Amino acid sequence: MNVLVLGGTGSIGLAIIQQLLLIKPHANIHATFFHHQPQYQHSHLHWHQCDITLENHIKALAKQLPRLDVVINAVGMLHTTEHQPEKSIQQFDTNFFQANIQTNTLPSLLIAKHFMAALKTSSRSYFVTISAKVGSIEDNRLGGWISYRSSKAALNMAIKTISIEWRTKLPHCCVIAFHPGTTASPLSKPFQRNVAPHKLFTPSYTAQCLLNLLATLTPQDTGKFLSYDGNALPW
Ligand SMILES: NC(=O)c1ccc[n+]([C@@H]2O[C@H](COP(=O)([O-])OP(=O)(O)OC[C@H]3O[C@@H](n4cnc5c(N)ncnc54)[C@H](OP(=O)(O)O)[C@@H]3O)[C@@H](O)[C@H]2O)c1
Repeated sequence: MNVLVLGGTGSIGLAIIQQLLLIKPHANIHATFFHHQPQYQHSHLHWHQCDITLENHIKALAKQLPRLDVVINAVGMLHTTEHQPEKSIQQFDTNFFQANIQTNTLPSLLIAKHFMAALKTSSRSYFVTISAKVGSIEDNRLGGWISYRSSKAALNMAIKTISIEWRTKLPHCCVIAFHPGTTASPLSKPFQRNVAPHKLFTPSYTAQCLLNLLATLTPQDTGKFLSYDGNALPW
């Protein structure tokens, strides 16, 4: 089994890798990092430095990995050192919006484009993107966080569209968007205060939820937006 985890130095990405190494000890895992040098090493784990917002980086990585069974994109951003997510449209900033789109939306499109051939070599493959429930248009009751919400809503549309195209081109592939629930990480840190302790998941719990879910999914489930508890979310 050949797996690629993009964002392997992130809290959720690393937990997915560690959980996979436990439950699939023979799996060959490739993972990407960007700013942070990976600290975690394992004989079945191969690190690649990659800025997944750049098409030439994704293309070069795809050339090195011609056969894959599972691709999981765990890259994302919610805030920067200069900007917190917006509470009002008055805080909207073009550069912050573009950074959200560039990190949260664009990479999954580039990954799908360049790893389609690798996923085609597998008799049962998975293309998973970590999205967020706040990207659901129907579920949006609170407002706020307009750049992040918009980038995840656009991501969701991209995933749904790819899943429809691949129903005929990659009939053995299951394409899903996954909502991890609020998970302790640098991304969620500034927003954990109002989260009930039992609703703040450890990255390893979130990774277990995802991998347990994947074990139950077949290509018939392609095109779903699924929560950590296995429930389907409205797009
Ligand atoms: N945590 C939550 O509560 C929560 C809730 C809903 C959805 N999510 C989603 O879950 C995903 C993972 O989040 P997390 O909580 O694990 O965040 P995190 O710990 O902050 O990790 C973010 C990851 O993104 C990578 N990254 C950022 N920009 C990149 C780029 N240009 N190229 C390559 N890698 C890049 C980082 O790599 P380097 O550090 O090496 O740069 C890091 O691995 C995100 O999509 C997030 O939106 C999280």
